[in-house]
Amino acid sequence: MDYTACHVVVTGAASGIGLATAHAAAERGAQVIALDRDASALQRMQAKFSERAWPLTTLPVDLADEAAIRDVVARLATLSPKIDLLVNSAGIVSRGLFEDTALADWQRVLSVNLTGSFLCLQQMVPLLRAGTGRAVVNVASLAAKRVSHTGGASYTAAKAGVLGLTRHAAFELAAHGIRVNAVCPGPVLTAMTLNATTQAARQQVAEMVPLGEWSTPEDVAHAILFLGSPLARMITGTTLDIDGGLSLVTGTSYAAYRAAREK
Ligand SMILES: NC(=O)c1ccc[n+]([C@@H]2O[C@H](COP(=O)([O-])OP(=O)(O)OC[C@H]3O[C@@H](n4cnc5c(N)ncnc54)[C@H](O)[C@@H]3O)[C@@H](O)[C@H]2O)c1
Repeated sequence: MDYTACHVVVTGAASGIGLATAHAAAERGAQVIALDRDASALQRMQAKFSERAWPLTTLPVDLADEAAIRDVVARLATLSPKIDLLVNSAGIVSRGLFEDTALADWQRVLSVNLTGSFLCLQQMVPLLRAGTGRAVVNVASLAAKRVSHTGGASYTAAKAGVLGLTRHAAFELAAHGIRVNAVCPGPVLTAMTLNATTQAARQQVAEMVPLGEWSTPEDVAHAILFLGSPLARMITGTTLDIDGGLSLVTGTSYAAYRAAREK
């Protein structure tokens, strides 16, 4: 996959899947524009990219803030004449039980994961239309189709919403040649999951995954870059699972399933 001369915007770019996507795009020649609320992590990212002479523009922004998104996209338009690929990766989780979920928590999770993705995409349509790549990849989750184990009901609902957003935007924006797809990662080792799990819990999760391990942020980044590339030129409105086969698992653990059959 060659991203030479491509302008790739990544939200949530300072950590985890967003950071791996920014790296993988830069390695392939892209000019990356990184959006994140964590200004100091963006500075560390800038330093790493400079070491490798990769072009990078960093724009701190809170994607829960509509006015801030409008401002940052206006600034982006003065820095970049086009966007070839937009990756909406910024996300947060809230872990409470359903009955204890406070409205403010619910709204915060929806505003970053779902409304932030909607606003970024909507605001960037003119820049995407000016690009040659004309692709968007939303980072949803396996939770969009099942139940989140890292987050709560707000996360499951937000990610299910991201799939609806993906389908509808794909349908309408096809008129402009813009493709919109989503990835649904299963468990991925990033700050989000490391902060929410113990080593023992991570081992249990790995044992549930048919391929036997957690995905890496790079595994997801490569799927994102595939969907964003001309290799996927007739793929739009769809989702790609990166979960080591976890969505194939029913009630029994994978090891128990095999043990019952192996003599
Ligand atoms: N890690 C997993 O197992 C997993 C699985 C499925 C889906 N996802 C999704 O992947 C995406 C990336 O998650 P990750 O695991 O890399 O997590 P991460 O915590 O490593 O990275 C998330 C990034 O988003 C940024 N961010 C959070 N809120 C923001 C806001 N309001 N404005 C701007 N930036 C904000 C953070 O600063 C951080 O840099 C998220 O959408 C997450 O829901 C993760």
